[in-house]
Amino acid sequence: MDVIESIRQRYSCRNYSDKTVSKEQIMELLALANLAPSAGNGQNRQFLVITDEDDRKWLGKMNNQLHMAEAPVDILVTTKLNTETVEEYFGYLKGWEMTHNGQNPDEVKIDEKVKDEIREMKYKWMISDVAAAVENLMLAATSMGLGTCWIGVMDFEGVRKKFKLRDGVVPVCWVTLGYPKDKTESKHLKPIEELVRWG
Ligand SMILES: Cc1cc2nc3c(=O)[nH]c(=O)nc-3n(C[C@H](O)[C@H](O)[C@H](O)COP(=O)(O)O)c2cc1C
Repeated sequence: MDVIESIRQRYSCRNYSDKTVSKEQIMELLALANLAPSAGNGQNRQFLVITDEDDRKWLGKMNNQLHMAEAPVDILVTTKLNTETVEEYFGYLKGWEMTHNGQNPDEVKIDEKVKDEIREMKYKWMISDVAAAVENLMLAATSMGLGTCWIGVMDFEGVRKKFKLRDGVVPVCWVTLGYPKDKTESKHLKPIEELVRWG
């Protein structure tokens, strides 16, 4: 299946057959996920693969999203808080011969506003690194005949405790994965003109 066809066919699958997905398939999908672009090639995304039935049942009950229990695989995608200082970041900018909002990094006065701007940008990078990988994963899975669903509603504290996430590791979303039982979903899309502005 070519990529355009995968994009057309991907949908949020919320019912799964009990056919298993092999470890090799999962690892192949995750390697494809990590071919996605990432900020500064930091690849700031980590994957926790859950196949244990009790854990999946726990996830299904977490927010009454039963497809999390039905799917043979649930993948938690995390990102790590960036600990680089603003000074270190400006050092990289200089190495790349880039400016900070048009100013030479050496001349920028590092005040709270600049620190906030950079913190916000780094946070956007973290989420973007995850999102790009998740979309790759989903499109590759579609082309292999697998179903997926992006799960953003979760008990963040519960997940932290249950799966013993270390400090600084931020859970972003889950992806359910498995063979679809039947395709019932249909797309309800806004007209693309509503989302596009030129110039
Ligand atoms: C950030 C994000 C969070 C989402 N959270 C959930 C979720 O918690 N549970 C769920 O069943 N679907 C979730 N979805 C899937 C969306 O409901 C779905 O993508 C949307 O309705 C469009 O349908 P489609 O994926 O079939 O095109 C989420 C999608 C995104 C991108």
